[in-house]
Amino acid sequence: MCGIVGYVGKQKAASIILEGLKRLEYRGYDSAGLCVLQDGRLDVAKKAGRVEVLAKEATRHRFNGTTGIGHTRWATHGGVTDANAHPHVSSDGHFALIHNGVIENYAQMKAFLSGKGYTFRSETDTEVLCNLIAYHYAKEPAGQNGTNRFLESVRKALDHVEGTYGIAVLCIDFPGEMVAARKASPLLVGVGDNEYILASDASALINRTQNVVYLKDGELVHVTPAGFTISTLDQMDVSPVVDRITWSVADAELGSHAHFMEKEIFEQPQALENTMRGRFSEDGSTANFGGLNLSATELRQIDRFMFCACGSAWHACLVAEHLIERYARLPVEVDYASEFRYRNSPLDRNTLFFVMSQSGETIDTLAALREAKRKGYRVLAINNVVGSSIAREADGGVYQHVGPEIGVASTKAFTSQLVLGAMLALYIARLRDMSFNDGVQYVNALKGAPELVRQTLRQAPLIKEIAQRYAKHADFLFLGRLSLFPIALEGALKLKEISYIHAEGYPAAEMKHGPIALITEKCPSVFFVPKGEIFNKIVSSMQEIKARKGKIIAIVTEGCELPPGLADEVIPIPDCHEAVLPIVATVPVQLLSYYIALALKCDVDKQRNLAKSVTVE
Ligand code: G6P
Repeated sequence: MCGIVGYVGKQKAASIILEGLKRLEYRGYDSAGLCVLQDGRLDVAKKAGRVEVLAKEATRHRFNGTTGIGHTRWATHGGVTDANAHPHVSSDGHFALIHNGVIENYAQMKAFLSGKGYTFRSETDTEVLCNLIAYHYAKEPAGQNGTNRFLESVRKALDHVEGTYGIAVLCIDFPGEMVAARKASPLLVGVGDNEYILASDASALINRTQNVVYLKDGELVHVTPAGFTISTLDQMDVSPVVDRITWSVADAELGSHAHFMEKEIFEQPQALENTMRGRFSEDGSTANFGGLNLSATELRQIDRFMFCACGSAWHACLVAEHLIERYARLPVEVDYASEFRYRNSPLDRNTLFFVMSQSGETIDTLAALREAKRKGYRVLAINNVVGSSIAREADGGVYQHVGPEIGVASTKAFTSQLVLGAMLALYIARLRDMSFNDGVQYVNALKGAPELVRQTLRQAPLIKEIAQRYAKHADFLFLGRLSLFPIALEGALKLKEISYIHAEGYPAAEMKHGPIALITEKCPSVFFVPKGEIFNKIVSSMQEIKARKGKIIAIVTEGCELPPGLADEVIPIPDCHEAVLPIVATVPVQLLSYYIALALKCDVDKQRNLAKSVTVE
C-alpha cells in the first residue's frame, strides 16, 4: 500500500520519480505527488487521482533539481484530496516527507505540536511526523558530536512513533541529501551509476539498476551524492549488503499485452516451469527443497502443519491442506493471518508453521510469522519477492521465482503457490508412505502442468464469448468440491475484485444450505466438474440449480459426459493428476473474470479501493 520513490543523483529527479511512480501505481492510486529540492526550496506538485494526473500537473512546474521524492497513495487517514496527497511539508517549510504505513499515536503528537505553534493543512498522520521532525530539528540547532543534524532529527522523531512506516525525507538545508527509514513497510535503495534510488519495491528502479540494498526494520539510510550510510534507530552503524535483482525491466513491463493481468495469466506456463526448475530429485520421484533448512529426520518428527496467509495465498494454502492430508496423511490447519495473530490458538510442539505471501510484505502475514516465532516455532515461508520482510524473517522457505507480479489480482503467483503446495505434499508424502512409483507418477504429472495450462489457455476465445454473454449478471456462485472448493473461492474473489460483481464461492453440496436461495435465471453458477469419485454428486448439485432455472457454466475435465442440456456453457479442461487439477482449473476462472471485467470496462489492473501489497492492518 502506497508506493515510495526517492532520487539523489545527477539527473533531473522529477522524470525519474514519475517513471518509478508509474511502476509502483499498483500499490495505491488514490493520489500522487512529488517534491524536488531545487533553488533552495521544496517544490511540491500533488493531486488526487492517478500518476498521469500528477504528470500533467508536473508540467506546470519547472522541475530541474536532482534530488526528489514521490509517492502514490492508498488512503488511510484522511480522504482522497489534493491536500491529503503526499509529500507533506512541515509548517516551517523545512522538511518534505512521504510515508507508507500508519502512525498510530499521531493524535497525541498533533496536540503536542499544535501547542508548539505547528500548523496542519491535511488530515493525515504523515503531516504530523513531518512536523515532529521539524520540531526536533529546531530544538537542536547544531549537529552534536559531528553528527548530521538532518539525520538525527529524523531519528529522534522516529523514537516517538508508534506504528509502521517507510518514509523518505528531504530537508531544505541539505541539498543533495535524503534520509529514509523503515519499520514494517518495505524500502530498498538502488545503487546506480552515480545515483541512488529509493523505492518501496524493485519494480520502481529496475530500469536504472539491478543492484539493491534491502533496508531492515528499524534502519535509517542517509543518502548523499557521494554515497549512503545505514544506521539503526539506536545509532549503530550497519554495513550494507548489495543484492542483485535477477529479473529484468521487461518482466515489469506490459509488452504486447493490454493489461498486466492478461500478461500474467498467459505467462503461467513459464512461471510454473520457473517455480519447479531444479526442484525435483535426480531419480524423479520426489521434490527437493534446500531452503527449508530442515533435515529429513527433523521433518519426520513433524506431526501437524499450520499455514497462515491472506487473500489468494490463503486459497492456495487450502489446496495445500487438501494435498498434504491426502498424500502425506498429516493434519493441516489453515488460518487467515489476520485472525491467527489475535486468536492465540494453541499450537502443538511438533507443528511446522508456514506462511504464504506473494509480496512477502502483507502486514497480517508478517505479524502471524512474528507471533509464531515469538512462541518459539520455526516458521517457513512460501514467497515470491526476494529480500522481502517475510523472506528475511522466516527461518527458511521456498521462493516462487515467478518474477514481478504487477496486476493487483494475483494470477501467476497464485498458480505458482499451488504448485509449491503440491510439491510440498509430495516431499512429505515421500518421506512417509508414498511409494517410489507413485512419486514418479506425481512428479511427471507436475512436470506436465505447464503444458496443460498452455492447452487450457487456448480456450480463451471461448471463455471471452461466454464472458460477454454473462457480464451483465449481478450475482454469481462458484461451486467446487475437495481441492476445487478453494478454486471456487478464488474464482469468486477474482470476479469480485476486478469486475465488482457480487460472487460467492461454496463447496458444491453446501450450496443447498443457503446460497441456493439466490438462484434465479439471473444468478449463474460456475461449477467445477472433475472426473472421478464425486462426478455424480456434482451432477446432482447441478440438477438442483437447473431445476430452479439457474444458468450453469461448467468447467469440465475432458472425457466427462454431462447429461445433455444440463450446462448452458461448457469449458473443457484437460484430464489430469489430482495435484495438477487445481492449477489447470484456475485458468478458466481467471480468464472469465478478466473478460467480464473488460466487457464492463473496468480497470482490471487497478481496481477500486484495492492495493496489491497490503502493508497496513
Ligand atoms: C492483496 C492482493 C491479493 C493477495 C493478497 C495477499 O489483497 O490484492 O491479490 O492475494 O493481498 O498478498 P500476498 O502478497 O501476501 O500474497
